[in-house]
Amino acid sequence: MMAENVPLTTIADAVGTPAYVYSSATLKRHYEVFEQGLSGMDSLIAYSVKANSNIAVLAVLAKLGAGADVVSGGELVRALKAGIPANKIVFSGVGKTRDEMRAALEAGIYQFNVESLPELHALNECAVAIKTKARIAFRINPDISAGGHAKISTGKAENKFGIDITTAIDAYAEAAQLPGILVAGIDMHIGSQIVELAPFAAAIDKGLELIKNLRAEGHDISNFDIGGGLGIPYVEDADAPPLPIEYGRMIAEKVQGHNLKMIFEPGRMIAGNAGILLSKVEYVKTGGARKFLIIDAAMNDLIRPALYNAHHDIEPVAQRNSDGITTPCDVVGPVCETGDTFTEQRDLPDMQAGDLLVIHSAGAYGAVQSSQYNTRPLIPEVLVSGDQFKVVRERPKVEDILKTENIPDWV
Ligand code: LLP
Repeated sequence: MMAENVPLTTIADAVGTPAYVYSSATLKRHYEVFEQGLSGMDSLIAYSVKANSNIAVLAVLAKLGAGADVVSGGELVRALKAGIPANKIVFSGVGKTRDEMRAALEAGIYQFNVESLPELHALNECAVAIKTKARIAFRINPDISAGGHAKISTGKAENKFGIDITTAIDAYAEAAQLPGILVAGIDMHIGSQIVELAPFAAAIDKGLELIKNLRAEGHDISNFDIGGGLGIPYVEDADAPPLPIEYGRMIAEKVQGHNLKMIFEPGRMIAGNAGILLSKVEYVKTGGARKFLIIDAAMNDLIRPALYNAHHDIEPVAQRNSDGITTPCDVVGPVCETGDTFTEQRDLPDMQAGDLLVIHSAGAYGAVQSSQYNTRPLIPEVLVSGDQFKVVRERPKVEDILKTENIPDWV
């Protein structure tokens, strides 16, 4: 099995396992497919940095003209460092600190997506203090349920996100009074891993209605940010989510003639299937109720199965035989928790200790959600392009981890 033109065995030999491997050609293809789907619309693609924030990945996207959706001061620094221009950056998030606001104002970002009135006032104060204005959209909570899992659906009234659509008119009236605030648009994000168009369509309809009302009140609304959320296929050959072209066409039809700049914040759709987690079988354990493949990757490296019961296709790098015979296996990591399980009772071809395997669709919300639980150092990230590859995040040594800790002399 290859990553572009590089055999995965070459990467495993060079950097060890486990490791994340990303394809720059696939990142580029996903970005371009999305962009083509939006043709005819005035739009900004603000890649959602949280999905995969490695600066090499960001740099690939920056070169294609991508903007960024950031949710922290740290992500802002990454996006700028990777060459994404400030005037293509939007800042989302329910708990921006004043320090983060100041940094974003100083950088001159395009838009703040504001999620509450207290946040609005804090932003106003920050902007006034440095004699500038913050361009804002309120994140509107449209009360629409969508998303692949309860933990990642965000658009319901009871979720913590955004301001209630029923109070939006008042919020905009308040914003218009503030000297440090420039009202520019509305924003929504209803959830993630959404595999049908209907919830997006319903949210857009609600948004357009609100825009009409806001314009009638005299607000100059030019931007409609509809967030991210388009799902990706996690299971090969299963029903695929809507294509970006279908998503784009549906939105283009709705917003046509409304004189809006559309902002999109795709994350998973760009990065998810551009990356894999490369791992190795340590032990095959049989003899009990189940057959376990104990691999060298764990829940600290990829937490999606443990956290969201997420499915990731798993495949050996090299097939041991071509007889098509599979046996039910549990694929588990070495962490001392039953939750450290990538899959249960999955029919998999023969794999033996030492064999390499691939966990697919791990390019989004993989490395970014990893931790050093069990003092397992963060694993390397590798970017491939054609026949070249480079380690774009190195594996820290345990000594590097311990350098940040100290024992007080009074212990
Ligand atoms: N914009 C906002 C405001 C968001 O909160 C998110 C994701 C996105 C855009 C990007 O959504 P995407 O296009 O990637 O669906 N860790 C979870 C996913 C969390 C999504 C959080 N917000 C997972 O592994 O499934």
